Amino acid sequence: MNDSVTVLDKTFVKYLSEADIDAAEQRVADMINRDYKDDDVIILITLNGAIFFAVELLKKLHVKCRVSCIKLASYNGTQSTNTVQNLIGLTEDLRDQRVLVIEDIVDTGHTYQHITNMLKDSGMRDMRIATLAHKPDAYKLDLPVHYVGINIPNKFVIGHGFDYNGYGRNFPDIYQLKENR
Ligand code: IMP
Ligand code: MG
Repeated sequence: MNDSVTVLDKTFVKYLSEADIDAAEQRVADMINRDYKDDDVIILITLNGAIFFAVELLKKLHVKCRVSCIKLASYNGTQSTNTVQNLIGLTEDLRDQRVLVIEDIVDTGHTYQHITNMLKDSGMRDMRIATLAHKPDAYKLDLPVHYVGINIPNKFVIGHGFDYNGYGRNFPDIYQLKENR
């Protein structure tokens, strides 16, 4: 595996190996297995990016769960935008259910805020969020981010679900945007 990759007009350097990512996924799974031991939970995967994390995480879970997907979009190139679009909405009845949202990354929190607003009148019992990565320095909300695989600096990453204009999602490792110096 190369230590740097070029995608479209940008160069990225290797940041997290498959083993690092697996360890982060296992940490999240352990917390969820502990906290939802006696519960029945609806897992909502946010497409597209979170499917990579979700598949690995779900294989490590031993809790009673059902799985569904929602699709949102907030990114344009390497910049988060303030508007989050609902591309595929919620189709499940969440009344009296515990909901666990699976995200690839919580960056500014706009997407998380949008999901919270979207679900607040659903009658669900509670909602928590599990994310592979979190950028605490970019985060603007007071809402807790319940399950974090790894905290990362406020730099753009690709690989293992993270994309740059649609490319790079399938890379097994995670790469960080190379600084122009
Ligand atoms: P937020 O709404 O700013 O929290 O951003 C959430 C979404 O932006 C994530 O679900 C990702 O799809 C995308 N995103 C945030 N940071 C990155 C990154 O470093 N690389 C690729 N996508 C990112
Ligand atoms: Mg996403």
